[in-house]
Amino acid sequence: MAVLRPRRSCLAVPGSSTKMLGKAQGLAADQVFLDLEDAVAPGAKEGARANVVSALNDGDWGNKIRVVRVNDATTKWAYRDVITVAEGAGPNLDCIMLPKVQGADQIRWLDILLTQIEDTMGFERGSIGIEAQIENALGLTNCKEIAFASDRVETIIFGPADFMASINMKSLIVGEQPPGYTEGDAYHYILMSILMAARARNVQAIDGPYLQIRDVGGFRRVAERAAALGFDGKWVLHPDQIEVANEVYSPRQEDYDKAELILEAYEHYTSEAGGLLGAAMLGDEMIDEASRKMAEVVAAKGRAAGMARTQKFEPAAR
Ligand code: GLV
Ligand code: MG
Repeated sequence: MAVLRPRRSCLAVPGSSTKMLGKAQGLAADQVFLDLEDAVAPGAKEGARANVVSALNDGDWGNKIRVVRVNDATTKWAYRDVITVAEGAGPNLDCIMLPKVQGADQIRWLDILLTQIEDTMGFERGSIGIEAQIENALGLTNCKEIAFASDRVETIIFGPADFMASINMKSLIVGEQPPGYTEGDAYHYILMSILMAARARNVQAIDGPYLQIRDVGGFRRVAERAAALGFDGKWVLHPDQIEVANEVYSPRQEDYDKAELILEAYEHYTSEAGGLLGAAMLGDEMIDEASRKMAEVVAAKGRAAGMARTQKFEPAAR
């Protein structure tokens, strides 16, 4: 993974609420996305564009990743959302999130539009990234092409609520197993398909919302499920979910320590000083190039999360 910016917690903020646009700035989420889509009523959508532009330009977002979710490419609002927000706040905008993506053509449309805006406004070409939300059966089927449709794509996101509706899943509780299905995890195939597409293209995979905001234990359980597979983060809808997401999507301290130890040990053992070994012992464990790759992933996530190591590598006497 190139430069890893943490997206452990991605906070949804309705663009129609100036109060929430203000409050979100002080919360500890890695990313915010200011919403023009489903959290904004049709009658409030045009006004929300101006709120979002001023919140990006005048707010203090620290080092949060700043994203705006526009309406999907099949709606009448989409092009004006993109033009208003990218022209109005381009230098203060990291990504546009496109919901309900169904195919690579929709990502290419957004890519071309962003390039035109960047050229017109004198912004750096390619500076605005794209986050692609997979929310229906067609989108999932085309997920890999979507991931590869533009260099701007930075994340592939699962949108469970719309997705459950799209496939007629027999449950109204987003992220929870549908009653009657006792054979395993009803989300496994979907999560894995998104993760494979994201990893094939070397971008981040993000899990969507958990709507039972008072059930922090339920949020943790569902967040751990996607984190265990390798997802990088999850949406949060409430301040109580932020801390849990930041914890669940960071490596555990012992895993982070071990990862840094493996990297240091492997560098030493493969050097002249360490004996040019391809495989070496670290304590009771044999480490090789594959161990280094696994360790690199955990170490990168830990460093991005600002973790500090608590152990140091001491080469064994030879
Ligand atoms: C999010 O947009 C969802 O549909 O779950
Ligand atoms: Mg949705």
